[in-house]
Amino acid sequence: MSPSSAEVVRTEFEARILVVDDEPDVALLVSETLREADPSWQIETESDPERALARVTGEPFDCLITDLVMPQVGGLSLAEKAKAANEDIALIAISGRGTLESTIEALRLGFTDYIEKPFDLEGLQRAVCRTLRRQVRDQRLKNRFAELAQTKARMEAEQTQISQKLEIASHDLVRSNRRMARQMEGLATTADVARSLMGILELEDLLGLCAELVGDRVSCQTSTIALYEADDGAVGLMVRAHPDSEESPTLCWLRTPIRSGVICRAVQSRKTIHINDLADSVLVDFQEREFWQTGKLLVVPIPFQKNAVGAAVLHRPPEAPDFQATDVKRVTALANVMAPAILSAKVHHRQRCQVYASLEMVAVANEERFPYLRGHSARVLAYAQPLGQAVGLSQSETGALQIAARLHDIGYVVIPHTAINHSGPLSDDQWEVVRRHPAVGADFLKPLEFFGEVGDVIRAHHESYDGTGYPDQKAGEEIPLVARVLTVADAFDGMTSHRPFRGAISRDDALEQIRKLAGQQFDPQVVEALVGLPAETLDEIADSWR
Ligand SMILES: [Fe+2]
Repeated sequence: MSPSSAEVVRTEFEARILVVDDEPDVALLVSETLREADPSWQIETESDPERALARVTGEPFDCLITDLVMPQVGGLSLAEKAKAANEDIALIAISGRGTLESTIEALRLGFTDYIEKPFDLEGLQRAVCRTLRRQVRDQRLKNRFAELAQTKARMEAEQTQISQKLEIASHDLVRSNRRMARQMEGLATTADVARSLMGILELEDLLGLCAELVGDRVSCQTSTIALYEADDGAVGLMVRAHPDSEESPTLCWLRTPIRSGVICRAVQSRKTIHINDLADSVLVDFQEREFWQTGKLLVVPIPFQKNAVGAAVLHRPPEAPDFQATDVKRVTALANVMAPAILSAKVHHRQRCQVYASLEMVAVANEERFPYLRGHSARVLAYAQPLGQAVGLSQSETGALQIAARLHDIGYVVIPHTAINHSGPLSDDQWEVVRRHPAVGADFLKPLEFFGEVGDVIRAHHESYDGTGYPDQKAGEEIPLVARVLTVADAFDGMTSHRPFRGAISRDDALEQIRKLAGQQFDPQVVEALVGLPAETLDEIADSWR
């Protein structure tokens, strides 16, 4: 018998087969028959069922061909133990006395073939080949499943990693977007702030706006912008805002010793300073502690190039939370754009002070030309200030009033000395010359844009409330309120002072005359304010600068 005649298909499996039969001749016959079918098979025989049991549970066999009926250890029991030790082992039964029960049990245990004795040898070869082929296929499938399972596990792990990475990336993206949005918003806001600050030349107005901006960005009880005067080594102008109230920013002063106190320290070091307890801090000067009392301070320098022009000082009460890094960041962002505007306004302020000082010298020299005018502008200012306060002038109007009061008669510089310095009434021609001085004074200030409305006030200081004044015959509210205040103060000092063409009149007579002219020459509300001033105040001013 040849393998070709038995139509044996060689397996790709180098099978190791154990043939167990308590009859050695049968085991040998089976072994020889199978070896003819495929020489590559490694076929071993065992006639002792107990030894066979030890071998199938301890050695790696691919196929067990066993007699079912044997002494000591039956084929079914042997197969069950072999299967328990190696679930992949193929089982083929050979028996000459099989029963239905044993056949069913064999099938249950996983026997794939059942060969009756006496053997059909070719049938035996085919059965083993079929079984081993199926085993190979099953093993391949099993391997394939294992590979697929590994691939699936790997893909699941990769998917998990990708999901985690995506989640992290998504989170980062969201955070990045938010940060970018905040930065864009911050840039836009900062650019807007820088642009709007540069348009403000009034130093006090600028500092007030800066203080309000800081107070709007960071919760605090007060926000203060303090300038640092490097030449003096001391804190200069300060403007304080009250974010939680309707109160406008106010000018304030702090007289700390030179180069001492927390503001100077922050400015000179260009470092932000936190004070969590004003009462205990050694960094705070006595004057600063008096100014802010108790609580917490955040002092942020306002940098410019290698120096600092001042500091933003935020104050919180003791029970409020400490200032945080985000607070510092917000204030610093604003401080960085404040410095150029502050320096520009300081230059403007300094120039205006210098020009004002020069013009004031001209005004004083002018008063010296006309001895009866001596001290006139200083007294007019002294009367005008309480009047302006009484009628509710704004901060900028008060500033204009202060300058206009001192310079209102500066137009006299073009009036010939002889036109006024003589006794007796003025001629019509002399009056014509005198009446030119408001317009001349206004023209004098016209090129000086930083004096703003001061020129208009000076031009209008001889207008009458009823429109009969000069030079423009304006009436009522056409006349700037500052000018209406100045007119009353000017008239009161004129009446109570000696003039070449008449003597001074008393305080009460002057008040009476002015009261009679309320609504005609003078604004009634300003007249009412004048009448309401204490007599001692009026007398004290009247006796000054003579
Ligand atoms: Fe005048």
